[in-house]
Amino acid sequence: MGIETSCDETSAAIVANGRRIISNVVASQIDLHQRYGGVVPELASRQHVKNILPVIDEAIALSGLTIDEIDAIAVTAGPGLIGALLVGVSAAKALAFTIDRPLIAVNHLAGHIAANYLGDNKLKPPFLSLIVSGAHANIIYVRDYSDYLMIAKTKDDAAGEVFDKLARAVGLGYPGGPMIEQTAKGGNRNAFPLPHPKIKNSLDFSFSGVKTAAFNVLNKAELTAKKNGQDRRKILSDQDFAATVQETIVEILADHLWQAQKLTNAQTIVLAGGVSANLRLRETITKLADQIGVKLIVPDIKLCTDNAAMIAAAGYFQWQEGICSDLSLNATALWELSEI
Ligand code: KG4
Ligand code: ZN
Repeated sequence: MGIETSCDETSAAIVANGRRIISNVVASQIDLHQRYGGVVPELASRQHVKNILPVIDEAIALSGLTIDEIDAIAVTAGPGLIGALLVGVSAAKALAFTIDRPLIAVNHLAGHIAANYLGDNKLKPPFLSLIVSGAHANIIYVRDYSDYLMIAKTKDDAAGEVFDKLARAVGLGYPGGPMIEQTAKGGNRNAFPLPHPKIKNSLDFSFSGVKTAAFNVLNKAELTAKKNGQDRRKILSDQDFAATVQETIVEILADHLWQAQKLTNAQTIVLAGGVSANLRLRETITKLADQIGVKLIVPDIKLCTDNAAMIAAAGYFQWQEGICSDLSLNATALWELSEI
């Protein structure tokens, strides 16, 4: 069984052999946080407390199994919102204690990567992985199921975070990534110039300059429109804004991934995280993989964003390697994957 409560989804799932989903229940809190334009941590924790037991019950009921047939309990122990993580960790500890089964602490990013083991039964390390979510932008070389080498991380904002903040600025709502993708359809991908920041001798990302430049373009268009008594959208449409922002982020991700492939000579590339649901990103990386002649694996769209099936999958492979925790397990807000 997997349990996930690191941010704004309460989820429990049952997975067989790390490869096959038996049940996967996800209670999303999008409606709760929408009016604030982003996740409010305290509200998220309280909602997890309300949801966790019904979600676990439903995952068991839908599986057709009894609780005794569960072999091990995997839970996201970090990184994430500490109050939110604690709800899942406490529930997992109580359950592991009650049914006397191993407890496995899973890193949330390891979970995102493992979503791919559920879609492709033959996928095995080593491979190169681009993990892009609301809180992360990482390139990780997965040497083995529980052996991760950090190739790149973000110095500031995450890719999804830029989408979320810019979508909010144009009034597209939360979460911003899917809204940006939808609005970008038919828009001009080169409506205005945006920087492609590079850090010397490093493949690390930096997105804050892109975000600030996009904010400046938007503010300038709003000022000009105000002066002329016009609607800003007459000067800069939401479509063009979204399409240009999306294209820039996708180009930066693809460029760094290409360089990381050259560095590692990895023959398989894997996408992971909420932003990997983005079709323009998938299309661009598919072309790139064809060009360099490597295999590309992408997760099922439903498994890109947070869910417990991916945590159960990651937990299974950890369990096989004997990497379990005891009941003193605590949640960790910051936990680099490369520490595993
Ligand atoms: O992995 P995830 O569910 O949560 C974190 O671990 O952060 O990722 C959520 C992020 C949000 O920033 C959301 O805007 C972004 O993924 N996202 C997308 C799309 N779907 C979700 N970004 C771009 N295009 C999408 N279709
Ligand atoms: Zn996530």
